[in-house]
Amino acid sequence: LTPKRLKGERVLVTAGPTLEEIDPVRFISNHSSGKMGYAIARQARLRGAEVTLVTGPAALSAPHGVKLVRVQSATEMRDAVLDALERTDIVIKAAAVADYRPRSRSGQKMKKSEAELCIELEKNPDILAEIGAMKGGRLLVGFAAETQELVKNAGAKLKAKNLDLVVANDVSQEGAGFNVDTNIVKLLYRDGRVEELPMMGKDELAGEILERVEVLRGATAGKG
Ligand code: PMT
Repeated sequence: LTPKRLKGERVLVTAGPTLEEIDPVRFISNHSSGKMGYAIARQARLRGAEVTLVTGPAALSAPHGVKLVRVQSATEMRDAVLDALERTDIVIKAAAVADYRPRSRSGQKMKKSEAELCIELEKNPDILAEIGAMKGGRLLVGFAAETQELVKNAGAKLKAKNLDLVVANDVSQEGAGFNVDTNIVKLLYRDGRVEELPMMGKDELAGEILERVEVLRGATAGKG
């Protein structure tokens, strides 16, 4: 039986991609399946936490005992996250949020013509950076999806977004990242420590991440 070390903790997890509509039938998105974030939500619940899972479109069923909030776009994900933030002790952001969205959404299906088509994109809010700026006593865990200079780029995200822990995956590696059942990560801490984990299933990795979260939380909350 998993020890309930997160009992009394309110954990907010994000998962999946966001989907940014171009018109009623077309959109911009990415390959996130939601598997990583759903695994974290499931494992956090098993450890006794009260869990809210804010998820972009994913073909997965809700983990048992977890409050599921379904969203589509980055803007909707931001609203759902900020809505739950006040009642949250630990935030774990595994979602692959689209950094850009079409500047305007056509109300009708766009017609094909002989001309080239340019779609102008504008920036989406960086949800994690926004939470980092108003962190309070919360523990913040981010992911970093990189294809080059993993530790350097993930370390920059840890600082820029005011995180306690970054789970860095090189998504160009086989068996890591988007839409597979396994992942290969390095864990980066605020004190500069880097811990390398071997390839493992996403459920097992979720457990490893939460074990580190329990230790960090014990240290910051004066518990355990
Ligand atoms: O869903 P799966 O198929 O299981 O795949 C898992 C995964 C590859 C999606 C996951 O392991 C992962 O790496 N998630 C983060 C993907 C990502 O968008 O990384 P990033 O380096 O672009 O963003 C860094 C962090 O900031 C992330 O925690 C992200 O949730 C957050 N972010 C990013 C952009 C934005 N506008 N708002 C954010 O909050």
